[in-house]
Amino acid sequence: MKKPSQLEEEINKRKTFAIISHPDAGKTTLTEKILFLSGAIRTAGTVKSRKSGKYATSDWMEMEKQRGISITSSVMQFTYNDFKINILDTPGHQDFSEDTYRTLMAVDSVVMIIDAAKGVEAQTKKLFKVCSDRGIPIFTFINKMDRQGRDPFDLLEDIEEVLGIQSFPMNWPIGMGNSFKGVYDRIVHKIHLYDEQREHHSFQLESDDLSNDDLNGLVETEQILELQDTISLLNEAGDSMNSEAIKQGKQTPVFFGSAISTFGIPAFMEHFLELAPEPQGRKSNEGYVEPSDNDFSGFIFKIQANMNPAHRDRIAFMRVCSGKFTKGMEAWNDRTNKSVKLAQGQQFFAASRGNIDEAYPGDIVGLYDPGLYQIGDTLCGQKNTYSYGKLPQFPPEHFAKVRAKNAMKQKHFYKGVTQLAEEGAVQVYKTVKMEESILGVVGILQFEVFEQRLKTEYGVDLEIQSLPHTCARWVSDDKDLKLDSPNYLVHDQSGKSVIIFESDFALRWFKDKNPNTELYD
Ligand code: G4P
Repeated sequence: MKKPSQLEEEINKRKTFAIISHPDAGKTTLTEKILFLSGAIRTAGTVKSRKSGKYATSDWMEMEKQRGISITSSVMQFTYNDFKINILDTPGHQDFSEDTYRTLMAVDSVVMIIDAAKGVEAQTKKLFKVCSDRGIPIFTFINKMDRQGRDPFDLLEDIEEVLGIQSFPMNWPIGMGNSFKGVYDRIVHKIHLYDEQREHHSFQLESDDLSNDDLNGLVETEQILELQDTISLLNEAGDSMNSEAIKQGKQTPVFFGSAISTFGIPAFMEHFLELAPEPQGRKSNEGYVEPSDNDFSGFIFKIQANMNPAHRDRIAFMRVCSGKFTKGMEAWNDRTNKSVKLAQGQQFFAASRGNIDEAYPGDIVGLYDPGLYQIGDTLCGQKNTYSYGKLPQFPPEHFAKVRAKNAMKQKHFYKGVTQLAEEGAVQVYKTVKMEESILGVVGILQFEVFEQRLKTEYGVDLEIQSLPHTCARWVSDDKDLKLDSPNYLVHDQSGKSVIIFESDFALRWFKDKNPNTELYD
């Protein structure tokens, strides 16, 4: 067998994934416990301590801290059992689904957390759809087994029916809530006992017979009998584990556990590291690019200004797709067709970051961005090679007129608006007649974040007047349009003409009046 090259060895050591969930299912808690088990952080402050001022390591934006929700996606790299892990945290709140969507373009697998009492919730469904459209492998962690929840079979049925994916329980819970005794690992035939004092209390069994005498007294006889029945039922009537189907996102391995007490996480990570794919290649306009291709390539999936208020800098997050990134290398940007020197790469660990000299496929590199990059840019080590294509933008659904309260702050206002628009945090339009600024967002909470960021990062207090308008359409030619007054003709950031309509009815009315005008969303 051919010895893997150094590049292949580096690729095989990496796992790049995102954690998705409906808010409150336990994403922050799970992330933090994984970081804790890896040794990357020394104290896993529980989410409760957010309220006492000690925040989860992955939540670093002021507003997230105040509200206890995840708004921006952060990136964390660390080592876990010799694997280089890149976790891309995603905002759980639906108003930030565009940011999440872009982040999901940069991962090779996803961990989906489900609250055992709630089953599949609305936001999980939406995020799941994005993953399944891309065929991303999904690992399910059913959380909060220490609380009374729904029947495990019910939960599996929910996953299969609501999400339309086959499930394979990797472990099976013994009781739940007050009678939660642990889980039986179906792969390695081990019982892990849930013991709040001793987390790693486990029994190795010979096989699925589950008649280990050591269990007597620790687990009630009834529970052992029930477990025996369930395991034989699952073995006989359930689907078998299919690693190919897992890699294609058609089957999800399901784990039961309790993130708050770290219960089930070490075993989950062990199986995950074995089954989750290493960094995958990517489709370009010139065909599929293998990560082991020696020529460097990557793409920008996120831009974030003012990550460090002390430096007022802007960082473009690049996922390395092929070859090796080295500090100071030259790369070509497919959009501008210009070369850039990738002078300083940054690596992230929640709130802190450090310089890196090299990075490999799967890694996320933060590039200083003095305005060189846009979301969706491809960077290649060779000139004119290929492009990974644009990342899709969501059409905005909420609109508001904004201006600085203090006219003297106009310069700061425009700077802030432009930078946040380039980040993709909001879309900004200018009315053609009065040159007023109109913001467009997918979720209403984005306005609040925008307002807060303009205040804290640019020192500008805003006046926001929300508009009843509901949709925006781009027009190729804006001459001689028959447009009624509540609708606005505006220009977007790149100067293209857009009409903002008050309602779907107004849009249909416009189409009737202007049958030759083509509209795009
Ligand atoms: P999120 O990032 O997905 O939004 O969830 P997060 O980790 O913040 O967890 C949400 C709440 O659920 C937190 O409670 C957290 O302590 C709790 N939680 C997480 N994992 C478990 C678990 O395994 N078992 C139990 N019983 N609880 C868990 P909180 O801060 O008190 O918030 P709240 O309960 O007041 O909403």
